[in-house]
Amino acid sequence: MQDSYGRNIDYLRISVTDRCNLRCRYCMPEAGVEPMRHEEILRLEEVLTLCRSFAALGIRKFKITGGEPLVRWNVVPFIEKLKALPGVEQVTLTTNGLELAAALPALQRCRLDGINLSLDTLQPEVFRRLTRRDGLEKALYALELAADSGIPLKINCVPIQGINEQELPQIAELARERVRAVRFIELMPIGLAGQFQAVPAEQIRERLAAAFGPLRPVNVQLGNGPAHYYAVDGWSGKIGFIEALSHCFCRQCNRLRLTADGMLKLCLAHDDGVDLKTPLRSGMSEQQLTEMIRRAVLAKPAHHAFSEHPEETEGNNMFRIGG
Ligand code: GTP
Ligand code: 5AD
Ligand code: SF4
Repeated sequence: MQDSYGRNIDYLRISVTDRCNLRCRYCMPEAGVEPMRHEEILRLEEVLTLCRSFAALGIRKFKITGGEPLVRWNVVPFIEKLKALPGVEQVTLTTNGLELAAALPALQRCRLDGINLSLDTLQPEVFRRLTRRDGLEKALYALELAADSGIPLKINCVPIQGINEQELPQIAELARERVRAVRFIELMPIGLAGQFQAVPAEQIRERLAAAFGPLRPVNVQLGNGPAHYYAVDGWSGKIGFIEALSHCFCRQCNRLRLTADGMLKLCLAHDDGVDLKTPLRSGMSEQQLTEMIRRAVLAKPAHHAFSEHPEETEGNNMFRIGG
């Protein structure tokens, strides 16, 4: 459907849980956050009911996120059911990979359309410092299996000054032949991330060009997200950049978000949302829910306000939103 700025909205990001098996410092505090209570979280059957309404409105592509989506029990059968809904063309997953190896055979069977693996470092001690947990070995093992699984695989890396800036060329090199793309994501000042400094994308491109030769901008679409891509001679994969601050892509925004507790978020960077859980649980018909979502989408903001109005920016941490 179109929003009030003429943007075609056809993509929904579903956060299926706020729980995570890592504690990345820019995303989640070590302790002290109340996880959503069990009864607050939508049952996956309830999510499917909402997805029927979203599909009726022309949402065709669905991204499953978290927290870490694979820590939610039964998420794979849910993906299978979502894929079978009329109107659903594509379902993809963004994961930190720790639980991915075990889930891969079932994800292949249900023909998942893509995996984005979040991987900020290749060094065990940096991984432990950044995520406050062990797990790099598991993530790298999953990367190898996923790369051979036939499911399109991309890597997400958030470059942060003083953390992983030295190893960005090694991470980029995964795109030489192992994965479809390595994307460098500009850190957005949401929640805890405000304490860290992003590495400027221009600087990353210069370093990669010095190491591997020129980066040629290419006009490819590798998914439904805001990344723009570059090719390196001799590499089968691409290098992507997602620059929400330095290259605002809000005018092409195609997406909505559903949080695990049933809030429809119209923009990643605004902390307001529309409660869908209460009407769903009070027995509102699917048709009425569809109408409610249609009206909500018309209030989708034009753009984020990271620079002009940081006070309007989402105060929640990313694990509650799903990226
Ligand atoms: P594909 O390109 O289809 O694989 O999806 P994607 O890039 O949208 O998904 P992914 O879950 O891998 O997200 C990558 C990064 O893009 C995350 O850091 C998201 O927070 C960021 N991102 C996704 N959508 C938006 C958006 O609407 N606004 C902003 N500012 N950032 C976004
Ligand atoms: N800025 C940019 N990306 C972020 N992610 C989490 N928090 C932020 C942030 N503040 C990334 C994760 C994951 C993706 C879903 O979002 O690293 O790859
Ligand atoms: Fe978990 Fe992803 Fe947040 Fe890290 S960034 S704590 S993996 S949700």
